[in-house]
Amino acid sequence: MRSQRAGAPGPKAQIKVMRTGISPARSATPGPGQAQGALPVNEIINGDCIEAMARLPPECVDLVFADPPYNLQLESRLSRPDQSRVDGVDDDWDKFASFSDYDNFTRAWLIAVRRVMKQDATIFVIGSYHNIFRAGSILQDQGFWILNDIIWRKANPMPNFRGRRFTNAHETLIWATKSAGAKNYRFNYELLKAGNEDCQVRSDWFLPICTGAERLKDSSGRKVHPTQKPEALLSRILLAASNKDGVVLDPFFGSGTTGAVAKRLGRSFIGIERDASYVSAARARIAGVEPLPREAIAAVADKRSEPRIPFAAIIEAGLIRPGEILTDERKRHAAMVRADGTVSIGAVTGSIHKTGALAQGLPACNGWTFWQFERDGRYAPIDALRSLARASLRQAAE
Ligand SMILES: C[S@@+](CC[C@H](N)C(=O)[O-])C[C@H]1O[C@@H](n2cnc3c(N)ncnc32)[C@H](O)[C@@H]1O
Repeated sequence: MRSQRAGAPGPKAQIKVMRTGISPARSATPGPGQAQGALPVNEIINGDCIEAMARLPPECVDLVFADPPYNLQLESRLSRPDQSRVDGVDDDWDKFASFSDYDNFTRAWLIAVRRVMKQDATIFVIGSYHNIFRAGSILQDQGFWILNDIIWRKANPMPNFRGRRFTNAHETLIWATKSAGAKNYRFNYELLKAGNEDCQVRSDWFLPICTGAERLKDSSGRKVHPTQKPEALLSRILLAASNKDGVVLDPFFGSGTTGAVAKRLGRSFIGIERDASYVSAARARIAGVEPLPREAIAAVADKRSEPRIPFAAIIEAGLIRPGEILTDERKRHAAMVRADGTVSIGAVTGSIHKTGALAQGLPACNGWTFWQFERDGRYAPIDALRSLARASLRQAAE
């Protein structure tokens, strides 16, 4: 079936779009566990996502991963130079009569998603040049606040067979909060950095597309789903922006990549998918996933969510004595610890941060990592004392 190029004016009657994003035939019958108030976690709802989300309670999910139809607007069958057919995305679910139909669909599902997101939940929307700019503008119009656009650079992209364009070698993920005011969204910054050889994780991700054993195939060896995403991509997203036991919603569940990764990483998921054959494939796939051992995925408190410890509390706890001398790593500066939790360099007295900045001639400084204390000839940042104080606070609270 051939669809009119989206966005181009033309008589709609000629466009035989059987199932577009805004489907006339929606399965509105509530299934078990789908009633308002009960959260159908670790279930796949077979139906239209806009209707299914309307049946979820408000503010019930922590993270959304949305891989909507891209509206690829393929005009004809694509062939390789040897005339073999390219297995592109020409499914009905990816066809829209016009850009404006696609935008209406995008607006509708984003409104539905927004309602079920908790105040500090975040959303990742993935797309290509065909749709991601439209999605980005609608996200902003609806009040979402974009945190990053992440480029997934494909290690093994499909070549451009006609040689008329650059190889399309990436997809874009928009990561957003519900509003600019949502400040306490989950971002496992410290863990990501620690897992990245202590370097901040960047917004360009280099990962292969889904191939090999991970790719679901039917009995005749054909791909079960044309746009199955790699599990590594979902792992990064879930590890970065959710915690163990968080609820992850995927309104375009497809072959269930989000569910498979969520189960492995100890997250709960809600999947919504309109095509029953994809739902069965996803159920079988997820059933075969073994969750990782608890210790391998247990949540770890990040520094931002840990209680604030003033330097004075370190002195009160007896971890450092007034009169002790702090130095920087290269021993160029020295400051004396005072009983009130300030430190002094000569006649200047101030916080560990202000004195650290002053010593270096900088506008700001993290005194916890700049100043070091000495024990038995060994030096360590005073941040180590803060960690000790936090550990004993945690113990006392248990
Ligand atoms: C790009 S694919 C998602 C692929 C998925 N991320 C994976 O890894 O397999 C989009 C999916 O959304 C489904 N879909 C399209 N419109 C839908 C709607 N209105 N409600 C629910 N699912 C829909 C399609 O059937 C298709 O499986």
